[in-house]
Amino acid sequence: MNNTHDTRHTDHTDHTHDRDDTDDLNALVRDAMAAAVRSPLRGRVADYIPALAEADPTAFGMAIATVDGRVLGAGDWRRPFSIQSVSKLFTLALALAEGGDALWSGVGREPSGNPFNSLVQLETEHGIPRNPFINAGALVVTDRLLELTGDAAGAVLDLLRAESGDPAVDVNRAVAASEAEHGHRNAAMAHFMAGYGNLRNPVEDVLAHYYAHCAIEADCRDLALAGLFLARHGLRADGSRLLSRSEAKRINAVLLTCGTYDAAGEFAYRVGLPGKSGVGGGVLAVLPGRGAVCAWSPGLDAAGNSVLGVAALDALTTATGWSVF
Ligand code: DON
Repeated sequence: MNNTHDTRHTDHTDHTHDRDDTDDLNALVRDAMAAAVRSPLRGRVADYIPALAEADPTAFGMAIATVDGRVLGAGDWRRPFSIQSVSKLFTLALALAEGGDALWSGVGREPSGNPFNSLVQLETEHGIPRNPFINAGALVVTDRLLELTGDAAGAVLDLLRAESGDPAVDVNRAVAASEAEHGHRNAAMAHFMAGYGNLRNPVEDVLAHYYAHCAIEADCRDLALAGLFLARHGLRADGSRLLSRSEAKRINAVLLTCGTYDAAGEFAYRVGLPGKSGVGGGVLAVLPGRGAVCAWSPGLDAAGNSVLGVAALDALTTATGWSVF
């Protein structure tokens, strides 16, 4: 991995913060995790996808990657988990990188105020989902990425492997199959949108790619590294440009307003960063200009966001002031 070399010339780290050397970064991560477990709240492991119900409810890890090439973590930060909806951040980035603003004719960018798997707005809004992170919106993004690349899940996998430098990142086919078997709501949304002409590929193909990218397994370190292109204002680990500076800004904005669903207001209030959660318990947050942080613990709150993951990010940004506000 050549992160250190490649990111040096794009170092936007705010060195004025007096707790930013590596030892202190380690202490900050450990302190944030310790603060999170001080509350008795743990949430519940997702079981609507049966394969996810097997996740270890006691697992808890956190990693931080910085734009100047450091990566460190604590707890179960090297233990792979199902990234689920965290993948939607990468499908959106790739669809915009490959196809540009044409995407926005098929999906909005307003918070939905509804659960991630809700169907209620789709009919009154004529098959155009509110935003790219609720399931309906992510299905549209996956459809466009499939049209643009021929292999939407493969494109996400390639991006994650390249940015993390970890070739072990892969799709867990058993999880994808488990979700497909129990995916009646997603299938209903996809067919409904196809009825409005808002899918360009066969519903079965879109669903297969969506389930596959949701079923990618990666650890906190991989995801923190993979999220760095948003902290670097669109630049990848090898220095090439994935997104324009303005596209990266816009994705961060949609992450902040929609990335944690009907709890996006609460996430902004507590954490104050662009972030994306998944029902596997991962939460990836962007520190623009500084780095990316991934926290993971499978116990979820009612909105489907990791209880300890959000609490650890809350503690980190509260201790450091590293929020966008
Ligand atoms: O479609 C689903 O329900 C899952 N594959 C992803 C949902 C998810 O991760 C929501 N995030 N908190």
